[in-house]
Amino acid sequence: MNLKSKLPQLGTTIFTVMSQLANEQGAVNLSQGFPDFDCSPDLVNLVADAMKKGLNQYSPMSGVKELREQISRKQSEIHNSDYHPDTEVTVTAGGAEALFSAIAAVIRPDDEAIIFEPAYDLYRPAIELFGGIVKSVRLLGPDFKIDWEIVKSMISSKTKLIIINNPNNPATSVLTENDFLELAKIVRDTDVAIISDEVYEHIVFDELKHLSISRFPELKERSFVIASFGKLYHITGWKVGYCLAPEPLTKEFRKVHQFNVFCVNTPVQYGLAEFLKRKDEYLSLSGFFQKKRDFFINGLSQSKFKILKPKGSYFLLADYSEISDLNEFEFSKWLTVNHKVAVIPVSAFYDDPPEQKLVRFCFAKKEETMEKAIEKLIRI
Ligand SMILES: Cc1ncc(COP(=O)(O)O)c(C=O)c1O
Repeated sequence: MNLKSKLPQLGTTIFTVMSQLANEQGAVNLSQGFPDFDCSPDLVNLVADAMKKGLNQYSPMSGVKELREQISRKQSEIHNSDYHPDTEVTVTAGGAEALFSAIAAVIRPDDEAIIFEPAYDLYRPAIELFGGIVKSVRLLGPDFKIDWEIVKSMISSKTKLIIINNPNNPATSVLTENDFLELAKIVRDTDVAIISDEVYEHIVFDELKHLSISRFPELKERSFVIASFGKLYHITGWKVGYCLAPEPLTKEFRKVHQFNVFCVNTPVQYGLAEFLKRKDEYLSLSGFFQKKRDFFINGLSQSKFKILKPKGSYFLLADYSEISDLNEFEFSKWLTVNHKVAVIPVSAFYDDPPEQKLVRFCFAKKEETMEKAIEKLIRI
């Protein structure tokens, strides 16, 4: 039997490749985006309590009510934007399932979807799986700014979706109010939906403020806002996130979600609902990661890497042109094998990579892990 691949171009992801190489080489792994420190023991206890109370069966398809209410409260308090917990908030199996289900709800064969590259690796294959055509806007370092005139020129009657990622992985940039005003002008009087991937919403630095798309009513009405508890509470392995969208969009979203996963881990949802009441936990996250960012920048400043100071997310890009002429993929392998620090080449986030010399480090790590990496990097 010959199964004809729906995604023939797709190989193993760069994250698997680099993590495997890091393991083989005994390298400090700053490639994949996950913390190497533990989550709050209180959160673990809250989930354990829910399990002990017997809250171990299916939750409602849209998520546990208490959690949806807390999510709605938080969004309203922080962004002054209201989502009804019953009809506009859906708990998902991580940000990834939310992205996938939203893309599935929107994209039909031959629809066009605009993404910005470098892009998180899920967007393109998910669009293509449903027969969509990806139109990518290429952004370049060091600031990865969006030229909205280019975006405007790419809109046609076939355009059905724009995906933005703010704060951005891997670019570490954040969108400004002006970006949203330009985006609003472009989609006005069209049927273009927007997916706003905001999984790093609580990791922005230097007094910058995260502007959720839900703050802009004209954009909110056509947007799916995607969030992740994995990024918020250092629990990437629990895979719980959510999607916020106005009722008509949520209706379509849930048609996919219900036959994709139906519902998400129940005791974890009860634990999260309780933990979300502690506002300090999420309001202090930017400060927590800013310390880590500055620790890493400080260490790396003694090296030959040129740092692109991140505005958001827990990644840092660095230019290695003073060290090597290798392309980004070869350099990343060389760094892992010869200097025992694993990183991700930024070229992996482009379909057709430009000539840059940038690698991505993840600094969601203990200071001792970063210290080990810095020690190796400054010797190069
Ligand atoms: C930009 C972006 N979106 C979505 C996700 C997926 O989030 P989750 O792990 O909650 O599925 C990630 C994870 O790395 C990400 O970096």
